Amino acid sequence: MSHPTSPLSLEQAASILKSGGLVGLPTETVYGLGANALDPVAVAKIFAAKERPFFDPLIVHIPDIDWVPRVARVFPPLAHKLAQHFWPGPLTLVLPKSDIIPDLVTSGLPGVGVRIPAHDMTRQVMRLADIPVAAPSANPFGKLSPTTAEHVFHQLGDRVDAILDGGPCRIGIESTVLRVDDDRVTLLRYGGISLEEIEDLIGPIDRLVDQTSHAPAAAPGMLTSHYAPRTPLIIADDLSAEVGSGPVGLLTLQGDGDLSRFSQVEVLSPSGDLVTAAANFFQALHRLDRLNLRLIVARRFPETGLGRALNDRLKRAAHQEPVITGP
Ligand code: TXA
Ligand code: MG
Repeated sequence: MSHPTSPLSLEQAASILKSGGLVGLPTETVYGLGANALDPVAVAKIFAAKERPFFDPLIVHIPDIDWVPRVARVFPPLAHKLAQHFWPGPLTLVLPKSDIIPDLVTSGLPGVGVRIPAHDMTRQVMRLADIPVAAPSANPFGKLSPTTAEHVFHQLGDRVDAILDGGPCRIGIESTVLRVDDDRVTLLRYGGISLEEIEDLIGPIDRLVDQTSHAPAAAPGMLTSHYAPRTPLIIADDLSAEVGSGPVGLLTLQGDGDLSRFSQVEVLSPSGDLVTAAANFFQALHRLDRLNLRLIVARRFPETGLGRALNDRLKRAAHQEPVITGP
Protein backbone atom coordinates (compact mmCIF):
# COMPACT_ATOMS: atom_id res chain seq x y z
CA MET A 1 0.00 0.00 0.00
CA SER A 2 1.10 3.54 -0.68
CA HIS A 3 2.65 5.69 2.01
CA PRO A 4 0.03 8.04 3.51
CA THR A 5 1.74 11.14 2.13
CA SER A 6 2.37 10.00 -1.44
CA PRO A 7 -0.01 11.31 -4.11
CA LEU A 8 -3.00 9.07 -4.46
CA SER A 9 -5.30 8.57 -7.43
CA LEU A 10 -9.04 8.27 -6.95
CA GLU A 11 -8.82 4.70 -8.27
CA GLN A 12 -6.15 3.81 -5.69
CA ALA A 13 -8.24 5.30 -2.88
CA ALA A 14 -11.26 3.28 -4.08
CA SER A 15 -9.29 0.08 -4.26
CA ILE A 16 -7.83 0.51 -0.74
CA LEU A 17 -11.36 1.04 0.60
CA LYS A 18 -12.65 -2.01 -1.26
CA SER A 19 -9.93 -4.17 0.19
CA GLY A 20 -10.77 -3.15 3.76
CA GLY A 21 -8.23 -0.35 4.31
CA LEU A 22 -8.50 3.09 5.92
CA VAL A 23 -8.29 6.26 3.81
CA GLY A 24 -8.24 9.88 4.99
CA LEU A 25 -10.83 11.57 2.75
CA PRO A 26 -11.56 15.25 2.09
CA THR A 27 -15.06 16.62 2.63
CA GLU A 28 -16.34 20.19 2.77
CA THR A 29 -16.70 20.00 6.58
CA VAL A 30 -13.65 18.20 7.99
CA TYR A 31 -11.47 15.33 6.76
CA GLY A 32 -12.98 11.90 7.34
CA LEU A 33 -11.33 8.60 8.25
CA GLY A 34 -13.07 6.37 5.72
CA ALA A 35 -13.67 2.62 5.55
CA ASN A 36 -16.10 0.32 3.75
CA ALA A 37 -19.34 0.82 5.73
CA LEU A 38 -20.51 -2.70 4.83
CA ASP A 39 -17.42 -4.46 6.21
CA PRO A 40 -17.45 -4.77 10.03
CA VAL A 41 -13.73 -5.58 10.15
CA ALA A 42 -12.85 -2.45 8.17
CA VAL A 43 -15.19 -0.42 10.40
CA ALA A 44 -13.56 -1.85 13.53
CA LYS A 45 -10.22 -0.51 12.26
CA ILE A 46 -11.67 3.02 12.40
CA PHE A 47 -12.51 2.66 16.08
CA ALA A 48 -9.04 1.23 16.76
CA ALA A 49 -7.20 3.96 14.84
CA LYS A 50 -9.14 6.76 16.56
CA GLU A 51 -9.25 5.00 19.96
CA ARG A 52 -12.92 5.79 19.78
CA PRO A 53 -15.44 4.12 22.11
CA PHE A 54 -17.87 1.76 20.41
CA PHE A 55 -20.91 3.64 21.74
CA ASP A 56 -20.20 6.54 19.37
CA PRO A 57 -21.86 5.80 15.98
CA LEU A 58 -20.33 6.59 12.58
CA ILE A 59 -21.84 8.59 9.72
CA VAL A 60 -22.29 6.68 6.46
CA HIS A 61 -21.37 8.70 3.37
CA ILE A 62 -22.86 8.14 -0.06
CA PRO A 63 -22.20 9.92 -3.38
CA ASP A 64 -25.74 10.32 -4.70
CA ILE A 65 -29.27 10.55 -3.36
CA ASP A 66 -30.38 7.40 -5.20
CA TRP A 67 -28.07 5.41 -2.90
CA VAL A 68 -30.23 6.20 0.17
CA PRO A 69 -32.28 2.97 -0.17
CA ARG A 70 -29.02 0.98 -0.05
CA VAL A 71 -28.32 2.19 3.49
CA ALA A 72 -31.72 3.22 4.93
CA ARG A 73 -34.93 1.20 5.16
CA VAL A 74 -37.17 4.28 5.09
CA PHE A 75 -36.69 7.70 3.48
CA PRO A 76 -39.55 9.80 4.92
CA PRO A 77 -40.81 12.67 2.70
CA LEU A 78 -39.55 15.24 5.18
CA ALA A 79 -36.06 13.72 5.06
CA HIS A 80 -36.25 13.70 1.28
CA LYS A 81 -37.12 17.38 1.29
CA LEU A 82 -34.15 18.19 3.54
CA ALA A 83 -31.85 16.03 1.40
CA GLN A 84 -32.99 17.66 -1.84
CA HIS A 85 -32.36 21.08 -0.41
CA PHE A 86 -29.10 20.60 1.50
CA TRP A 87 -27.27 17.67 -0.19
CA PRO A 88 -24.50 17.51 -1.19
CA GLY A 89 -23.67 19.44 1.97
CA PRO A 90 -23.01 19.56 5.70
CA LEU A 91 -26.19 17.80 6.83
CA THR A 92 -26.46 14.28 8.27
CA LEU A 93 -29.88 12.62 8.41
CA VAL A 94 -30.44 9.79 10.88
CA LEU A 95 -32.84 7.34 9.20
CA PRO A 96 -33.95 3.77 10.01
CA LYS A 97 -30.99 1.64 8.97
CA SER A 98 -31.09 -1.11 6.37
CA ASP A 99 -29.99 -4.63 7.30
CA ILE A 100 -26.71 -4.44 5.37
CA ILE A 101 -25.37 -1.74 7.71
CA PRO A 102 -23.43 -3.49 10.51
CA ASP A 103 -24.54 -2.71 14.08
CA LEU A 104 -21.00 -1.58 14.80
CA VAL A 105 -21.56 1.42 12.49
CA THR A 106 -24.63 2.62 14.41
CA SER A 107 -23.45 1.49 17.86
CA GLY A 108 -26.47 -0.78 17.97
CA LEU A 109 -28.94 2.05 17.35
CA PRO A 110 -31.83 1.47 14.93
CA GLY A 111 -30.95 4.62 12.95
CA VAL A 112 -28.02 5.27 10.63
CA GLY A 113 -26.56 8.73 9.99
CA VAL A 114 -26.40 9.36 6.22
CA ARG A 115 -24.74 12.20 4.34
CA ILE A 116 -23.64 13.20 0.84
CA PRO A 117 -20.49 15.27 1.28
CA ALA A 118 -19.98 18.23 -1.06
CA HIS A 119 -16.56 17.14 -2.27
CA ASP A 120 -16.30 15.76 -5.80
CA MET A 121 -13.14 13.70 -5.17
CA THR A 122 -14.65 11.76 -2.29
CA ARG A 123 -17.97 11.26 -4.08
CA GLN A 124 -16.09 9.93 -7.10
CA VAL A 125 -14.07 7.53 -4.93
CA MET A 126 -17.31 6.11 -3.52
CA ARG A 127 -18.77 5.65 -7.00
CA LEU A 128 -15.59 3.91 -8.19
CA ALA A 129 -15.54 1.62 -5.15
CA ASP A 130 -19.32 1.20 -5.35
CA ILE A 131 -19.59 1.13 -1.56
CA PRO A 132 -20.95 3.50 1.10
CA VAL A 133 -18.16 4.83 3.31
CA ALA A 134 -18.30 5.07 7.10
CA ALA A 135 -16.22 8.05 8.16
CA PRO A 136 -15.85 9.89 11.44
CA SER A 137 -13.67 12.97 11.55
CA ALA A 138 -10.04 11.91 10.99
CA ASN A 139 -8.69 12.89 14.41
CA PRO A 140 -7.87 10.83 17.50
CA PHE A 141 -11.01 10.59 19.65
CA GLY A 142 -11.79 13.82 21.50
CA LYS A 143 -9.07 15.87 19.77
CA LEU A 144 -9.25 18.80 17.33
CA SER A 145 -10.94 18.03 14.02
CA PRO A 146 -8.73 18.04 10.88
CA THR A 147 -9.45 20.52 8.09
CA THR A 148 -6.35 19.86 5.95
CA ALA A 149 -4.64 16.66 4.76
CA GLU A 150 -1.64 17.76 6.77
CA HIS A 151 -3.70 17.75 10.00
CA VAL A 152 -4.69 14.14 9.24
CA PHE A 153 -1.09 13.19 8.60
CA HIS A 154 0.08 14.76 11.88
CA GLN A 155 -2.68 13.20 13.97
CA LEU A 156 -3.18 9.77 12.38
CA GLY A 157 -0.47 9.42 9.71
CA ASP A 158 0.86 6.15 11.12
CA ARG A 159 -2.60 4.60 11.38
CA VAL A 160 -4.07 5.14 7.91
CA ASP A 161 -3.25 3.36 4.66
CA ALA A 162 -3.52 6.54 2.58
CA ILE A 163 -4.67 10.15 2.66
CA LEU A 164 -6.41 11.78 -0.29
CA ASP A 165 -5.47 15.47 -0.36
CA GLY A 166 -8.46 17.51 -1.51
CA GLY A 167 -7.27 20.87 -0.18
CA PRO A 168 -8.50 22.73 2.91
CA CYS A 169 -12.13 22.11 3.95
CA ARG A 170 -14.46 24.82 2.70
CA ILE A 171 -16.97 24.76 5.60
CA GLY A 172 -14.57 23.80 8.38
CA ILE A 173 -16.97 22.45 11.02
CA GLU A 174 -18.79 19.12 11.11
CA SER A 175 -22.22 18.48 9.63
CA THR A 176 -25.45 19.31 11.40
CA VAL A 177 -27.08 16.05 12.57
CA LEU A 178 -30.87 15.67 12.40
CA ARG A 179 -32.93 12.62 13.27
CA VAL A 180 -36.03 12.24 11.14
CA ASP A 181 -38.85 9.97 12.35
CA ASP A 182 -41.80 10.27 9.97
CA ASP A 183 -42.94 13.87 10.38
CA ARG A 184 -40.77 14.72 13.37
CA VAL A 185 -37.29 16.24 13.09
CA THR A 186 -34.87 16.44 16.01
CA LEU A 187 -31.59 18.36 16.08
CA LEU A 188 -28.85 16.12 17.52
CA ARG A 189 -25.78 18.24 16.72
CA TYR A 190 -25.19 21.83 15.63
CA GLY A 191 -23.03 22.04 12.51
CA GLY A 192 -22.42 23.48 9.08
CA ILE A 193 -26.09 24.09 8.22
CA SER A 194 -27.61 26.58 10.65
CA LEU A 195 -30.79 25.99 12.64
CA GLU A 196 -32.26 29.06 10.93
CA GLU A 197 -31.72 27.56 7.45
CA ILE A 198 -33.39 24.31 8.48
CA GLU A 199 -36.36 25.98 10.16
CA ASP A 200 -36.81 28.29 7.16
CA LEU A 201 -37.36 25.20 5.05
CA ILE A 202 -39.46 22.94 7.33
CA GLY A 203 -40.59 25.06 10.30
CA PRO A 204 -39.69 24.65 14.00
CA ILE A 205 -37.85 21.47 15.02
CA ASP A 206 -37.09 19.76 18.35
CA ARG A 207 -33.70 20.51 19.85
CA LEU A 208 -32.44 17.53 21.77
CA VAL A 209 -29.02 19.12 21.46
CA ASP A 210 -29.85 21.75 24.09
CA GLN A 211 -31.23 19.23 26.60
CA THR A 212 -27.94 17.86 27.87
CA SER A 213 -29.61 15.51 30.35
CA HIS A 214 -31.35 13.64 27.52
CA ALA A 215 -28.72 13.89 24.82
CA PRO A 216 -26.28 11.04 25.56
CA ALA A 217 -28.63 8.13 24.82
CA ALA A 218 -30.16 9.50 21.61
CA ALA A 219 -27.12 11.39 20.38
CA PRO A 220 -24.15 9.39 21.59
CA GLY A 221 -20.84 10.99 20.88
CA MET A 222 -22.04 14.38 22.05
CA LEU A 223 -19.65 14.20 24.97
CA THR A 224 -18.85 17.19 27.11
CA SER A 225 -15.17 16.92 26.32
CA HIS A 226 -14.55 16.78 22.61
CA TYR A 227 -12.83 18.70 19.81
CA ALA A 228 -10.24 19.60 22.42
CA PRO A 229 -6.78 21.12 21.94
CA ARG A 230 -3.96 19.90 24.23
CA THR A 231 -3.62 23.45 25.56
CA PRO A 232 -6.20 24.38 28.22
CA LEU A 233 -8.91 26.57 26.74
CA ILE A 234 -11.32 28.93 28.45
CA ILE A 235 -14.30 30.75 27.00
CA ALA A 236 -14.54 34.49 27.68
CA ASP A 237 -17.32 36.98 27.10
CA ASP A 238 -15.01 39.78 27.97
CA LEU A 239 -11.28 40.31 27.47
CA SER A 240 -10.81 42.05 30.81
CA ALA A 241 -10.86 38.78 32.72
CA GLU A 242 -7.70 37.83 34.64
CA VAL A 243 -5.70 35.20 32.74
CA GLY A 244 -2.52 35.04 34.85
CA SER A 245 1.07 35.03 33.57
CA GLY A 246 2.82 33.09 30.82
CA PRO A 247 2.09 32.99 27.10
CA VAL A 248 -1.63 33.18 26.38
CA GLY A 249 -3.26 32.90 22.96
CA LEU A 250 -6.54 34.43 21.84
CA LEU A 251 -9.11 33.01 19.43
CA THR A 252 -11.54 35.71 18.42
CA LEU A 253 -14.08 36.43 15.71
CA GLN A 254 -12.93 40.02 15.19
CA GLY A 255 -9.78 41.83 16.27
CA ASP A 256 -11.37 44.52 18.44
CA GLY A 257 -10.49 45.29 22.08
CA ASP A 258 -7.21 45.30 23.98
CA LEU A 259 -5.19 42.43 22.54
CA SER A 260 -1.83 43.45 24.02
CA ARG A 261 -1.88 40.78 26.76
CA PHE A 262 -1.91 37.95 24.24
CA SER A 263 1.25 36.51 22.73
CA GLN A 264 -0.64 35.16 19.74
CA VAL A 265 -3.99 36.30 18.34
CA GLU A 266 -6.09 34.40 15.79
CA VAL A 267 -8.77 36.60 14.20
CA LEU A 268 -11.24 34.34 12.40
CA SER A 269 -13.02 36.97 10.33
CA PRO A 270 -12.12 40.69 10.49
CA SER A 271 -15.59 41.54 9.16
CA GLY A 272 -17.34 39.28 11.68
CA ASP A 273 -18.67 36.82 9.09
CA LEU A 274 -19.52 33.53 10.84
CA VAL A 275 -19.21 31.40 7.68
CA THR A 276 -15.63 32.57 7.19
CA ALA A 277 -15.01 32.08 10.92
CA ALA A 278 -16.19 28.45 10.72
CA ALA A 279 -13.90 27.79 7.77
CA ASN A 280 -10.92 29.07 9.76
CA PHE A 281 -11.88 27.75 13.21
CA PHE A 282 -10.08 24.39 13.52
CA GLN A 283 -7.04 25.56 11.52
CA ALA A 284 -6.60 28.46 13.93
CA LEU A 285 -6.98 26.17 16.94
CA HIS A 286 -4.41 23.74 15.50
CA ARG A 287 -1.98 26.64 15.02
CA LEU A 288 -2.48 27.91 18.58
CA ASP A 289 -2.18 24.40 19.98
CA ARG A 290 1.29 23.99 18.41
CA LEU A 291 2.74 27.04 20.20
CA ASN A 292 3.04 25.53 23.70
CA LEU A 293 0.92 28.30 25.17
CA ARG A 294 -0.16 28.11 28.79
CA LEU A 295 -3.73 28.94 27.91
CA ILE A 296 -6.00 29.68 24.98
CA VAL A 297 -8.72 32.26 25.60
CA ALA A 298 -11.61 31.88 23.16
CA ARG A 299 -14.12 34.64 22.81
CA ARG A 300 -17.73 33.45 22.67
CA PHE A 301 -19.39 33.79 19.26
CA PRO A 302 -22.77 35.45 18.71
CA GLU A 303 -25.43 32.76 19.32
CA THR A 304 -26.86 32.91 15.81
CA GLY A 305 -26.31 31.09 12.50
CA LEU A 306 -23.06 29.09 12.50
CA GLY A 307 -22.15 30.86 15.78
CA ARG A 308 -24.23 28.22 17.61
CA ALA A 309 -22.13 25.38 16.16
CA LEU A 310 -18.92 27.29 16.95
CA ASN A 311 -20.01 27.93 20.57
CA ASP A 312 -20.92 24.25 20.86
CA ARG A 313 -17.40 23.26 19.74
CA LEU A 314 -15.86 25.79 22.16
CA LYS A 315 -17.85 24.42 25.10
CA ARG A 316 -16.57 20.93 24.38
CA ALA A 317 -13.01 22.14 23.77
CA ALA A 318 -13.05 23.92 27.13
CA HIS A 319 -14.40 20.98 29.16
CA GLN A 320 -13.21 21.06 32.77
CA GLU A 321 -12.05 24.66 32.60
CA PRO A 322 -14.14 27.39 34.23
CA VAL A 323 -16.12 29.68 31.97
CA ILE A 324 -15.12 33.33 32.41
CA THR A 325 -17.85 35.90 32.24
CA GLY A 326 -17.42 39.62 32.30
CA PRO A 327 -17.14 41.63 35.53
O1 TXA B 1 -19.13 16.58 8.85
C1 TXA B 1 -19.15 15.48 9.41
O2 TXA B 1 -20.18 15.04 9.92
C2 TXA B 1 -17.84 14.67 9.45
C3 TXA B 1 -17.44 14.32 8.03
C4 TXA B 1 -16.25 13.39 7.99
O3 TXA B 1 -18.53 13.79 7.35
N1 TXA B 1 -18.01 13.50 10.25
C5 TXA B 1 -18.12 13.55 11.61
O4 TXA B 1 -18.23 12.31 12.19
O5 TXA B 1 -18.15 14.57 12.24
P1 TXA B 1 -18.01 12.07 13.75
O6 TXA B 1 -17.90 10.59 13.86
O7 TXA B 1 -16.87 12.84 14.27
O8 TXA B 1 -19.36 12.49 14.41
C6 TXA B 1 -20.51 11.73 14.20
C7 TXA B 1 -21.58 12.07 15.19
C8 TXA B 1 -21.67 11.08 16.34
O9 TXA B 1 -20.78 11.40 17.39
C9 TXA B 1 -23.12 11.23 16.75
O10 TXA B 1 -23.25 12.37 17.57
C10 TXA B 1 -23.82 11.50 15.40
O11 TXA B 1 -22.85 11.98 14.52
N2 TXA B 1 -24.38 10.26 14.82
C11 TXA B 1 -23.84 9.48 13.85
N3 TXA B 1 -24.61 8.42 13.61
C12 TXA B 1 -25.65 8.50 14.44
C13 TXA B 1 -26.80 7.69 14.70
N4 TXA B 1 -26.99 6.54 14.03
N5 TXA B 1 -27.69 8.10 15.63
C14 TXA B 1 -27.48 9.25 16.31
N6 TXA B 1 -26.42 10.06 16.13
C15 TXA B 1 -25.52 9.69 15.21
MG1 MG C 1 -15.56 13.91 15.39
